[in-house]
Amino acid sequence: MEIVVRPTAEAAATYAHDLLVEHVRRQPTTVLGLPTGATPLPVYARLVQSHRTALFSMQSVTTFNLDEYYGLGLKHPASYTAYMSRALFDHVDCPASQRHIPNGLAADAQQEAADYEALIAAAGGIDFMLLGIGRNGHIGFNEPGSDFASRTRLVDLTPSTLAANAPFFADGETQPKQAISMGIGTILQARRIVVLATGASKAEAVRQSLEKPAKTAVPASALHLARDVTFVLDQACAGI
Ligand code: PGA
Repeated sequence: MEIVVRPTAEAAATYAHDLLVEHVRRQPTTVLGLPTGATPLPVYARLVQSHRTALFSMQSVTTFNLDEYYGLGLKHPASYTAYMSRALFDHVDCPASQRHIPNGLAADAQQEAADYEALIAAAGGIDFMLLGIGRNGHIGFNEPGSDFASRTRLVDLTPSTLAANAPFFADGETQPKQAISMGIGTILQARRIVVLATGASKAEAVRQSLEKPAKTAVPASALHLARDVTFVLDQACAGI
């Protein structure tokens, strides 16, 4: 496991962007795992910029997002489908047929999860996974206690995750309490994982994740079991 510390959140995002672009340049058919949330937004902004200057193409890339709220309309601005369109997909050349996000409106969530897992396998697995981390140590929507062998499935969100994401929903609006998320076992199979964590609010979660042994109370600590992991932090998150 490698830990890279950059002075600022912006510099950390640039570093993560550079790793991803390098990877896609070496392997244009890369299968990417992609996160949502506030942390990766500057990475996506840089990818859009790199695409505009013709340094970066997603023409042959396949993407799998980590998760999607269950029961939320795809057009709702807080859905991760809408987020990905806004942040990245509307501005780059990745064909729609190569982009995957769990369908949060699927009538049968278990079937949708199983189908998603099968699609990842059919694509040959994830080559490069960009990850964020929750203040409670979650990766994707794998909340504390999630089994390290878990696969894509319907999950219940914890009160702390609901509180963290509440600002994205209008007052009085019903916030989804469940999501379809890649499992920890799914994530661990990625051939390369880059975790981007910035800001003092993530410092404790990162510190606990780096502690051995891995324990299910801290989902991101499972990354000790993955093949090739780089944590990219800013100084505030690294506590220096
Ligand atoms: P954030 O979310 O980037 O919005 O903090 C990260 C996560 O919960 O995985």
